[in-house]
Amino acid sequence: MASASRGQWSGKLGFIMAASGSAIGLGNIWRFPYTAGENGGGAFVLLYLIFVALIGIPLVLAELSVGRETELNPAGAFEKLSPGSKWPWLGRLGVLTGFAILAFYAVIAGWTLWYLWEALTGAFSGEITPEVSAQMFTDMTSNPLLAIAFTAAFILLTIVIVQRGISAGIERTTKILMPLLLVILVVLAVRSVTLPGGMDGVKYLFTPDFSKIDFPVVMSAIGQALFSLSLGMGAMITYGSYFPKNENLPQSGIIVAFFDTAIAVLAGLIIFPALFSVGIAPDGGPGLVFIVLPTIFNSLPAGGLFAVAFYALLAIAALTSTISLLEVVVTYFIDEKQWPRKKASWVLGGLCFVVAIPSALAAGGSQFFTNFLGFGIDFLSLQNIFWGNYSLSIGAILLAVFVGWSWGAPKAIESLESSGIKFQGSGLWTVLIRYVCPVAIGIVLIYIIVTGQYF
Ligand code: PHE
Repeated sequence: MASASRGQWSGKLGFIMAASGSAIGLGNIWRFPYTAGENGGGAFVLLYLIFVALIGIPLVLAELSVGRETELNPAGAFEKLSPGSKWPWLGRLGVLTGFAILAFYAVIAGWTLWYLWEALTGAFSGEITPEVSAQMFTDMTSNPLLAIAFTAAFILLTIVIVQRGISAGIERTTKILMPLLLVILVVLAVRSVTLPGGMDGVKYLFTPDFSKIDFPVVMSAIGQALFSLSLGMGAMITYGSYFPKNENLPQSGIIVAFFDTAIAVLAGLIIFPALFSVGIAPDGGPGLVFIVLPTIFNSLPAGGLFAVAFYALLAIAALTSTISLLEVVVTYFIDEKQWPRKKASWVLGGLCFVVAIPSALAAGGSQFFTNFLGFGIDFLSLQNIFWGNYSLSIGAILLAVFVGWSWGAPKAIESLESSGIKFQGSGLWTVLIRYVCPVAIGIVLIYIIVTGQYF
């Protein structure tokens, strides 16, 4: 039996920890706050919540049903459900996308390790001006050896866990790291919200200013929902393929989406109150957690500890996501090429490190990759646009079409109910997966192609 040699989650809880680990990542703690901050706070958050419900959850369930039904990697799964068709190419695109996302995600993840190290050695304990903070960030990210070394360290950590397998590696690690992450988050959020003036940050996050909602904000919210829920490249197909047949899949999928969303909001509750309490504007962009936060640690009580906890949190969140990215690629090589897991993990992880080098050099380490081909954009951002936006959107639309129409919603529902427990809301789900998901994401895709804007 394929399932016996591939391994399985020990149960629902193991799956929920691992899949939430995949979903909760830099997307929640780094990208969500700065995207919300750039897009008007509450208005963005409201749209985001709507899209998680209407698009995110239906797609999570769609991917999970494909994985659980076939117990295979994305390419093998489409082949099994639609033999002889072109659909397996969608799976292969997903595997490639996972590899490519890992190759730039690991670079940013490497920065979090560096910042954790800096926090531990007390680098954020004195007064840090915005100029000094920006300089610290540039000094680190533009140092070619440091950037490459921290990327390597992060990929190495990922490999060491993935090579141990589903239950002994991924499940065991995420069962320790996810509760730890939750504790740090809650403690930091409480600390931040109770700072003097912190409630202004809370208001900013939860009071929608509808005049801020325009087309780009809508697009950013959909894009953020896809990325944050690890959709559009088969991560949930892969994790679903290790899901025990006798457990309630729809319920587990919805719990994962709920955790992911709750944690993005919690991250907002750490960052915005802290910013507002010292009077710093929330629209600092991608540098928000690396450049803006270090300037405020000193003015927070026990700021040094706050810094250590915060960057540990970022690193942990990133690690449980890089694990899932590598796992998609590794599962593909195990199923399709019969590679042993250890070989797949080391060879593909090693290869990914090599492919990550240009991105590691794209923040000043090499002029060529920092201003790639003279386009005025760095190589890392380009990868993010290409794989993190275009490829995920294309993958998500096609997946919705496959599950809704080609394989067919009724069959997917049967698979979602294979534990014998009825899937409440299957009628609504059918409408969402057939019409709402492809149309809404289709609009996003056309929008980003026409305007060249990325979320
Ligand atoms: N969801 C992860 C995050 O929010 C990123 C990710 C995308 C992971 C796609 C796996 C697949 O950081």
